[in-house]
Amino acid sequence: MTTQRLKVMLDTGAAYDIRVGSGLLAKLGTHLAELRPTQAEQLAPAAPSAPADQPDSSAQSPQPTQPDQSAQRAQRVVIITDENVGPLYLAQVRETLQAAGFEVFDLTVPAGETSKSLEVASELYDALGLLNIGRDGVLVALGGGVVGDLAGFVASTWLRGVACVQLPTSLLAMVDSSVGGKTALNISAGKNLVGTFRQPLYVAADLNTLATLPDAEWDNGLAEIAKSAIIDGGEFYAWLRENAAALAARSARSARANFANFAALRAHDTQDSMADSIQQAIVRAVSFKAGVVAKDETETGLRECLNYGHTFAHALEMASGFALPHGRAVAEGIRFASHLAVEAIGAPAAFADQQEKLLNALGLAPLARTCESEVLNALTADSLFDRMYADKKVRGGQLRFVLASAPGEWQTVTVDPDLVKIYLIYWEQAREQMQEQA
Ligand SMILES: NC(=O)c1ccc[n+]([C@@H]2O[C@H](COP(=O)([O-])OP(=O)(O)OC[C@H]3O[C@@H](n4cnc5c(N)ncnc54)[C@H](O)[C@@H]3O)[C@@H](O)[C@H]2O)c1
Repeated sequence: MTTQRLKVMLDTGAAYDIRVGSGLLAKLGTHLAELRPTQAEQLAPAAPSAPADQPDSSAQSPQPTQPDQSAQRAQRVVIITDENVGPLYLAQVRETLQAAGFEVFDLTVPAGETSKSLEVASELYDALGLLNIGRDGVLVALGGGVVGDLAGFVASTWLRGVACVQLPTSLLAMVDSSVGGKTALNISAGKNLVGTFRQPLYVAADLNTLATLPDAEWDNGLAEIAKSAIIDGGEFYAWLRENAAALAARSARSARANFANFAALRAHDTQDSMADSIQQAIVRAVSFKAGVVAKDETETGLRECLNYGHTFAHALEMASGFALPHGRAVAEGIRFASHLAVEAIGAPAAFADQQEKLLNALGLAPLARTCESEVLNALTADSLFDRMYADKKVRGGQLRFVLASAPGEWQTVTVDPDLVKIYLIYWEQAREQMQEQA
């Protein structure tokens, strides 16, 4: 499999590379050394150590490996990962970086959304202090979107900003969160309410890591791919409609369980096109996102399109107490937006049907067919309406949605709350009917 390379070119003139391919983790050392020739030449391997403040010995967790206090030091790289991904991939990332002459440390946080907190960020700051990480330090985010958002946030605020490399290991992180420079933490007032915009130095999506990704996480990525294709329209949308079934194929899932990596998967004839489809889907989604980010780095307009399906999805997630997987919620949000668009902006009903078929072909069936009754019963029109108002994208008490009238034809619109309520009641009735039929 040939590695595909893309470049994000920002309005500011800044740019960074994204690579999508097999075996990229093992090449990180070489790529990073190539990327930062100035710093690498200056600092690796023999620049004098910068004076450090005394480390705070009270810092407890996460526990870093201790720095070498010798007078000479190489450029320092800190890998941040979680406790699921670390045991699988940390060793090879550490090894490649050490082989390239970097001084490498690692910090592991608990897996899951709760790590996107000020408390965990603060523990990481303490650890970076202990490790004496200076302005030339590099943080490497090895994991899914949680690790990416957390490490990205810490990198963008440590010493007012150090470089961050994103190594996404979940499909969602590969197609969405690792690209674009949006970082975020959750606070008690809501999800992703604290964050920064700061672009990564480099992004490498190693397809081999998908071999260990649980199926439910796979679905989360597929939903974001669907969103991107609908908003992008054109070739991407047409391609996804043709390849949706291949991407969702159960055979692929069992293949992922049975083959150690995508190289092995490729060697198996019948799976060859499968691996290519996955790579293509990621490359197309990343190209789309890179194009959007290039034009609107800090979400002042165009970038809002990335929220397609997300207004309803966030309401579903909150009303379910985050029991619903994000991808399932996004898929349902796309369904909701596609129907609302018929009335709100005159979209053809046939386009809503087409989106429904696309989601089904990707294996993203309606929630009422896949979710447990206890979770579903909490999702009433009233509770969802209230949650929508709590969404951070509500402006001046207005309910705003990204709606599409055709593939690639989208707009952000303020929708009359009464109309939203009517559609929420339709949605609730349809859900109840499906539950009865199940
Ligand atoms: N910054 C952005 O632009 C942006 C965009 C979309 C989503 N997000 C954020 O991304 C987060 C969701 O990301 P996610 O879905 O990757 O969740 P995640 O990071 O929690 O990963 C999901 C689970 O899969 C595990 N995992 C990841 N890769 C694995 C692998 N290769 N093998 C085995 N297990 C693996 C993780 O340990 C975790 O348990 C949310 O916090 C969301 O807000 C950010």
